[in-house]
Amino acid sequence: MTLNDEQLTELVQWEKGLISPEIFISDAVYEQELEALFGRAWLFLAHDSMISKPGDFFTTYMGGDPVVIARQRDGSVKAFLNVCRHRGLKLCRAEDGNTKTFTCTYHGWAFDIAGKLVSVPNHDDAYHGELNQDEWGLIEVAQLDHYKGLWFATFDKTAPPLTEFLGDMCYWIDGWADHLPGGIEILPGVIKWTIEGNWKLGAEQFGGDGYHAAVSHVSSFSLLDPSLFATMPKGGQFASREGHGHSFMHAKSRFNDDPIAQYNHERRLAMTDHVGEERANILANFTVFPNFSGLSGSANLRIWHPKGPNKFEIWSFTVVDKNAPEDVKKRIQVSAGFTEGPAGIVEVDDGEQWNNIGSVLKYGCQSKKIFWNYTMGLGHETSDHPLVKGKMKATYFGEGPQRAFYRRWLEFMTSKEWPRVTPDAPLTETETFDQTVASSAHE
Ligand code: FES
Ligand SMILES: [Fe+2]
Repeated sequence: MTLNDEQLTELVQWEKGLISPEIFISDAVYEQELEALFGRAWLFLAHDSMISKPGDFFTTYMGGDPVVIARQRDGSVKAFLNVCRHRGLKLCRAEDGNTKTFTCTYHGWAFDIAGKLVSVPNHDDAYHGELNQDEWGLIEVAQLDHYKGLWFATFDKTAPPLTEFLGDMCYWIDGWADHLPGGIEILPGVIKWTIEGNWKLGAEQFGGDGYHAAVSHVSSFSLLDPSLFATMPKGGQFASREGHGHSFMHAKSRFNDDPIAQYNHERRLAMTDHVGEERANILANFTVFPNFSGLSGSANLRIWHPKGPNKFEIWSFTVVDKNAPEDVKKRIQVSAGFTEGPAGIVEVDDGEQWNNIGSVLKYGCQSKKIFWNYTMGLGHETSDHPLVKGKMKATYFGEGPQRAFYRRWLEFMTSKEWPRVTPDAPLTETETFDQTVASSAHE
């Protein structure tokens, strides 16, 4: 069964802040997502630092499809479906590494890092030398590009350039990926775990849900810093017309006793020089539509890989400043696992909530008919940020980014052509974004 545009629009009434849970559990919606959304959007694959040398590769997914990204001999980068052309096996089973060829474990076809089929067992006798190997190379993604060392790909030839897809989110990405002259490095070792829920639950939470933290994380924050959510933190929200979201509070370590406080202090001064006060002084959570998220100001990036309507994998990467001292990198890696690893004291709180929702939707019937409430802050957003378009909200709590996310999701799901963005008219200002911090960013 396929849902038509009318049915999908009924399920996602983003303008009213009403979303049907059907979009988190329906097999039909999930199948449509794989084609209409993951088959067309630009999706994050890897960072430069993960494939720095010729022959370096990293295996990941675009939607449900296995993909491998590899550094070529000439320094360029290619990405392919990680699928053998003979019988469709997942070709490279390693998570990452360095190689000259990818050899299939089934019958032994081998492909070089440029995707060319270079060896076929028994080519001369079994195939009588008649197989044209040039025609049976790996399938390349339709477009591959990077922004500030972050590599993205799309299966759609008609998708617009990556920077258009990222839109105003680039301003915030610059604040963590290009915040210091040396940029960032992703440390080896991706932590992966599974949640019995829908991938959008993670994506929407990182895009805009600071609201949950005061309650869901009360026990972990009581250990790290009990005062953190005693009142709503000062901060703001950004909801991009392209579906991206970013919520931030003004910077404060989550640790009362921060072991790298001195490094962070100096780092903040350097960041202020490089990207301005607004972006140097925040702790933030964000989602680059559709399934790439992170905690900027902290040390975590992640992908929400869909594995069915009610299952997703979290792939969690530790991010450090490339030029940070080795002992600081090590401390950050340990700290990131302590808080945001699968057994991290903060992360388990979220997993518990997502599994809970997934269970209600899996076994429930009446529960699936109840629309969920996404109305927080509706009508209280403004578009008066001096540097970026999109909607801002002057408080850390709100659901504008979530509404923007589902608006964009609906556009992908219902558009026959690649859904180009039509900009909104400026909003009538109902609340003014705090520009005292924002304006100093470009002085
Ligand atoms: S499936 Fe890969 S060689 Fe046969
Ligand atoms: Fe959380």
